[in-house]
Amino acid sequence: MADILVVEDKDSLRAMLRATMESRGYAVEEAADAYEARRRLQGSRYLVVLTDLRLPAGSGFDVLQAAREADPQASVLVMTAYGTVDEAVRAMKEGAADFLTKPVDTDHLLLLLDRAVERRRLFTEYVLLKEEQQRRFGLPRVLGEDPAFKEALLAIQRAAATDATVLILGESGTGKELMARTLHQLSARSKGPFVAINCAAIPEALLENELFGHEKGAFTGAHARKAGRAELAHRGTLFLDEIGDLPLSLQAKILRLVQERQFERVGGVQTLTVDLRVVAATNRDLKEAVARKEFRDDLFFRLSVFPVTIPPLRRRRGDIPLLAEASLQRFASDVGRRGLELSEEARRALLDHSWPGNVRELQNCIERAVILCDGDRILPEHLRLGGAREDGPTLADVLDLSGTLAEVTRRAAEAAEGEALRRALREAGGDRGRAAEKLGIGASTLSRRMRALGIEGGPAGPR
Ligand SMILES: Nc1ncnc2c1ncn2[C@@H]1O[C@H](COP(=O)(O)OP(=O)(O)OP(=O)(O)O)[C@@H](O)[C@H]1O
Ligand SMILES: [Mg+2]
Repeated sequence: MADILVVEDKDSLRAMLRATMESRGYAVEEAADAYEARRRLQGSRYLVVLTDLRLPAGSGFDVLQAAREADPQASVLVMTAYGTVDEAVRAMKEGAADFLTKPVDTDHLLLLLDRAVERRRLFTEYVLLKEEQQRRFGLPRVLGEDPAFKEALLAIQRAAATDATVLILGESGTGKELMARTLHQLSARSKGPFVAINCAAIPEALLENELFGHEKGAFTGAHARKAGRAELAHRGTLFLDEIGDLPLSLQAKILRLVQERQFERVGGVQTLTVDLRVVAATNRDLKEAVARKEFRDDLFFRLSVFPVTIPPLRRRRGDIPLLAEASLQRFASDVGRRGLELSEEARRALLDHSWPGNVRELQNCIERAVILCDGDRILPEHLRLGGAREDGPTLADVLDLSGTLAEVTRRAAEAAEGEALRRALREAGGDRGRAAEKLGIGASTLSRRMRALGIEGGPAGPR
């Protein structure tokens, strides 16, 4: 297969072009008119097509069209006589990669050629990388047979056929992000980007910048314009994870994004309009947050056009064995122990557990069991579920070790902080003043942290 097809009616010029390109190591085929070029393009693929615009039996535009039909990624370079640059411009509008004016300067030709081939190589590499990434990190299969779960999945499928804003509700670890990704994959936007932002993980001061980007010079350190997540999600899906933690200060801007698809970069005056679908998720009770005036009611109503609730695992126990088996298969094959099985007793223990950390907790539990088990059957003691039912989960059960160290540490710190606050509140009989004193913080700090961590409590003042 040749690398390059050169289409030129003047024999001497065609021979010269061919010699130049061959001297660079390219394999070249020739066509003397548009008809022959089309015929060759139907039978072969070329990295680059170099064509004159004025040709017998058609024109360079026909060649351009045929090349792009045969291979949308083909790079087409057109040659144009001096004084007819407007034709070259038209060719570029129709998809030509670049143009050369005649008489052809060979250095310029080789430069464009090398660039076109490089562009092609990068594109191929990108496609391969994307495929590889899909294979390695592709969406896990969504498992679940329980009617309550199927109902949620069906709602996601229905929503995928529309462009409506979707709000996914569910406890931690129930699969909200997986559902959001699945929704995107099933939607007409699947070829576009899926861009996620976790509203709880990013400090308030940085969140607006992350969401909407900034202009050069918007603040010290803003050396260049930067696109935010909303901009990156153009033609795709923007996933606003943990929307319940979105600070009030940003809620109006998100409302405008959801409603008008419009926003401004930080430090910018120009209004940008994007084409995106918003999917939001939270494990908090937004209605309650609205009642507490922590969440704008207009934003809440906008987001709840299409709410989907994923039931916790304890409400769909029938799915536990299914999910456990799938995790077992995966983790066991990861460590090269495909024969590993769940014992009947272990299966029963799994069914009895309450799974406050839901599917994620189940996955972590199975992963740990695979490591702890030396034999070929997983026994109840490998699951380490003992007593967890009465005492609630241990930290290790609900710790999510995925992501960067910073993320893991932040989650762990929040989990510990949450436990400490709850305990102090419990011991103080719900009296925030006394609880705060015990913790060595002010009452307003306590209230703020409770809000941030989604902890409910009695009235703010002492009773
Ligand atoms: N139905 C399911 N089938 C297969 N895997 C699932 C299912 N539900 C959840 N998972 C897996 O469980 C893990 C947790 O899911 P995910 O991160 O989507 O939950 P989440 O609700 O976003 O949790 P959090 O509130 O903690 O962010 C992921 O590894 C996900 O792939
Ligand atoms: Mg999540």
